[in-house]
Amino acid sequence: MDARTYEQEALAAIEDASTAGELDDARIRYLGRKSELRLALREVRERETGMELNRVRLAIEAAFEAKEEVLRGAADARALEETIDITLPGDRAPRGHLHPITQIRREVEDAFLGLGYHVRYDREIETAEYNFDKLEFPPWHPARSPRATFFLNGDVVLRTETSPSQIHEMEEHEPPMYMVSIGRCYRRDTIDATHYPIFHQFEGLAIDRGITLADLKGTLLHVMRMLFGEDRAVRFRTHYFPFTEPSIEPDVSCGICGGKGCRTCRNSGWLEMGGAGMVDPAVLRNCGIDPEEWSGFAFGCGLERVAQLRHNIPDIRVLWENDLRVLRQF
Ligand code: DAH
Repeated sequence: MDARTYEQEALAAIEDASTAGELDDARIRYLGRKSELRLALREVRERETGMELNRVRLAIEAAFEAKEEVLRGAADARALEETIDITLPGDRAPRGHLHPITQIRREVEDAFLGLGYHVRYDREIETAEYNFDKLEFPPWHPARSPRATFFLNGDVVLRTETSPSQIHEMEEHEPPMYMVSIGRCYRRDTIDATHYPIFHQFEGLAIDRGITLADLKGTLLHVMRMLFGEDRAVRFRTHYFPFTEPSIEPDVSCGICGGKGCRTCRNSGWLEMGGAGMVDPAVLRNCGIDPEEWSGFAFGCGLERVAQLRHNIPDIRVLWENDLRVLRQF
């Protein structure tokens, strides 16, 4: 055989191969066990011819390897192109947001900080002394029943309201004082559309010289307008709470019907917003404050209630289930 011609033919075949299959065919043909080159090598008798044939073998092998590399690179690029369109925009990392109750809590904090109040957070585990006694709950009050309140052991309870914060505030500070306390409360309520055994309240307390019911009304009007809009009105209904005298229940005008009467406000035009009143002189005295010199008002309101009214949420339970289909709407 003519070594040079053989080499050129082989190199041309390698050059022409455009797939791995064609390249393999060429390899078998020019380097395989039955190829002309192998047979010639087996029959070599003299050194010169042997050297020449081996040079040709090495050159062809190197050409195969180089071509293999080229074909593999092209295949990789094609595979990548099929799976990734590098011109598409990337995926955005999903970003959460605050729970509606947290959003409302922050709005309440903002409203009162703007009035010069300070915000406090108190313990959720209280003693009966702070949850009831110092707030002048009489011994027969139904809230003292273990059927209404979670008793942990003996006199220790899960607070049923944020009102114990009033006592802590008055014991820790000298008047004048303006504070709002926000946090979780617990009651042994059966779960339904408007009740849940865990809920949130915000509780305000203002103690100063010459504070009157008019200050309470002005404060609540301002806060309700911040939470629900400038067109809202506030009214008071008389009520009873152990720790206020007089006690009232504030209502805010219904924003759905504008006060004309609808299903949400049960045709009254008004929505109940919690409890309030002038701090009972006995409570002031329990905390070492002289009721002859100081007077004050207090109020309490549920955050869930505010959230329900703000967003028209008919069932309180969705605020605890953390179903993303619900929460994503707020
Ligand atoms: N603690 C009362 C409740 O949970 C709400 C309340 C009423 C708070 C009158 C007050 C208040 O501060 O003065 O129903």
